Amino acid sequence: MVVDAHHRVIAIDGPAGAGKSTIAKALSARLNMKYLDTGAMYRAVTFEAMLRELDLDNQQLITDLAQECDLHVGLDRVIINGHDATTAIRGPEVTGNVSKVAANSGVRTEMRARQQEWASAHNGGVIEGRDIATVVFPNAVLKVFLTASPEVRARRRVEQHGGNVIEIAQSIKDRDLLDSTRADSPLASASDSVVVDTSDRAIDDVVDEIEQLFRERI
Ligand code: DC
Repeated sequence: MVVDAHHRVIAIDGPAGAGKSTIAKALSARLNMKYLDTGAMYRAVTFEAMLRELDLDNQQLITDLAQECDLHVGLDRVIINGHDATTAIRGPEVTGNVSKVAANSGVRTEMRARQQEWASAHNGGVIEGRDIATVVFPNAVLKVFLTASPEVRARRRVEQHGGNVIEIAQSIKDRDLLDSTRADSPLASASDSVVVDTSDRAIDDVVDEIEQLFRERI
């Protein structure tokens, strides 16, 4: 029945600031489906590695941590090995290092397996990330690749988390480059993804469109 559960996945991919979290959460509430933020999983592993002062370049060490960690990513809280990492995973330290951890193939293999188990356990869901449609759930019933102009993305991040627009724009650009050029499952839209530009659109309008697409397919 794993295949069926995976078929009931709505995959939401795209770069930072494209509106993935806001749109995926709203969609999951409307459709009464569970929601999973896979970026928070990579961020939580990064947080725990930094807390333990592990060498992030030591691929085996970080892979071991990823395999052994007790990780709970819920709608409101992210807990790793009993530490509440909800706030810290959005901070500049974790944000500055997460691409390195996300490029680690051992970490990705482990996170992917956990994401697939999660979907099986919840009979699908709305799942956001970078490789959800391309690699983790190639059978997803609906694949959406969200984009937005770099200016809009930087502005949204500043509205959410504060900071300086020019600095945030640079950090988004750096992270996009790392995420889309890494060897293992880089950020990319799947050939069967619906590409939606959210730059000049209201959230509700985008959610309406995706909901409509989903209803046409089930
Ligand atoms: O969506 P986010 O900004 O919270 O993601 C954090 C980092 O994790 C980002 O640099 C890309 C990476 N990531 C990934 O490689 N694969 C995913 N499925 C989700 C996130």
